[in-house]
Amino acid sequence: MMKKTLTALTLSLGLVLSFSSYAKNNVVVVATGGTIAGAGASSTNSATYTAAKVPVDDLLNAVPQIKDLANVRGVQALQVASESITDKELLSLARQVNDLVKKPDVNGVVITHGTDTLEETAFFLNLVVHTDKPIVLVGSMRPSTALSADGPLNLYSAVALAADDSAKGKGTFILMNDSIFAARDVSKTINLHTNAFVSQWGALGTLIEGKSYWFRQSVKRFNNRSEFNIENIKGDALPLVQIVYGSGNMLPDAYTAYAKAGAKAIIHAGTGNGSVAKNIVPTLNQLQQQGVQIIRSSRVPQGFVLRNAEQPDDKYGWVVAHDLNPQKAKLLAALALTKTKDAKEIQRMFWEY
Ligand code: DGL
Repeated sequence: MMKKTLTALTLSLGLVLSFSSYAKNNVVVVATGGTIAGAGASSTNSATYTAAKVPVDDLLNAVPQIKDLANVRGVQALQVASESITDKELLSLARQVNDLVKKPDVNGVVITHGTDTLEETAFFLNLVVHTDKPIVLVGSMRPSTALSADGPLNLYSAVALAADDSAKGKGTFILMNDSIFAARDVSKTINLHTNAFVSQWGALGTLIEGKSYWFRQSVKRFNNRSEFNIENIKGDALPLVQIVYGSGNMLPDAYTAYAKAGAKAIIHAGTGNGSVAKNIVPTLNQLQQQGVQIIRSSRVPQGFVLRNAEQPDDKYGWVVAHDLNPQKAKLLAALALTKTKDAKEIQRMFWEY
């Protein structure tokens, strides 16, 4: 009798466990390095540490509570500080994420990443990975070894978001400091504190204690609605685009040097509303005539560059980056150049993405 009871109990426990595992979504955590995988000499080193040290399984084991949210497995795609990610790594990561979201048994993807170029990788995936499954990029401002490290809770929240069916079809996200940001809008605005990431248009929502609360959605094109697709991008380099930072007393040499290095477009990170010093305009027009697309962005973090305001863009054949900051304009310009060199078409893309 006892044996039958034990067998029945074991079977039912197995069923409960398998059902609960079955009831949870499957999330893959793709690790690339950064501070979230960083380690400092002591717990009081919140800003002095080495990034990209802790492997993905240790990151996951440090937050056992994520097992309550989803069936999670880790993949170590890279182990680098994000400022060192080049086109090669970016394209490879996009292909890996694209392969994962195509798998029927993957419901969402989390990417742990350095915060320095987190917004760039997120924006790129937002533009080239066709899926409605949640892709959530997450980092931390303090290393895992620091007092009040922000990585573990950021990772927990990122897994919660990636496992949340309500996050489907809303774009690629950055989850930092309880906020759910649209990849295209958010940027790192503070280089030392945990509330580093901000969007001038606000977060899409917030995630608290594993539950997401939504307050708006993006009207821009992304993921399934994008005309760009990683599956159509060959090789390990994008068309070369570079950025020149505007200030007083500008020289034209940086622009001509980049053109000589093979840049197919140059992002002018102008003062104010994408202003261009009058001694620089002839050089930019000469480069435009030579086939290097000039794109006016701004070094100012908020607002957007108004077409034909500071400069006669229609007359010069220049493009304005609208509200995209220089580093995001650089990525969209590179993708645009995989399809066209026509300034009007490129400008359309800057209005739509
Ligand atoms: N080296 C920086 C990076 O990997 C560290 C910053 C961070 O991850 O928060 O982006």
